[in-house]
Amino acid sequence: MNPAIDWDVLADAAVEARKHAYAPYSGFAVGSAVLTDAGDIVSGANVENSVYGLGICAERVAISAAVAQGARRIVAIAVCADIEPPARPCGPCLQVMAEFSDDIPILLCSTQSLRHLSSLRELLPQPFSLPRPS
Ligand code: THU
Repeated sequence: MNPAIDWDVLADAAVEARKHAYAPYSGFAVGSAVLTDAGDIVSGANVENSVYGLGICAERVAISAAVAQGARRIVAIAVCADIEPPARPCGPCLQVMAEFSDDIPILLCSTQSLRHLSSLRELLPQPFSLPRPS
């Protein structure tokens, strides 16, 4: 059973995580927080690299941390950046979300407390998927 979603708590976790972003090249700090089906909140921030292509988005950091802690299903995600309208996750992050959920609500937040509720299906209607070997 999915835990109830407390959007204030999830948004606050994303805002807090954003403070730890490592974004010296773009200057664009992003925070994210995922809620797992066990009710845990796991957060992440973007981590850039002087080899630009090695940078990783906040969403994938948060999802990877949750999975590394044992989670396999995520039920909601919040993303926070200092931009309006609030930033939407990039395509690769949406595909990674699709690996661990069928559809989830995605809360897009700005640091100015602006919020927009979207969903994985809205932003990525047809994710790629592979049949699992039996
Ligand atoms: N970024 C994220 O962390 N999440 C997003 O949803 C969009 C972009 C990061 C990647 C890079 O470190 C910086 O923002 C600028 O693209």
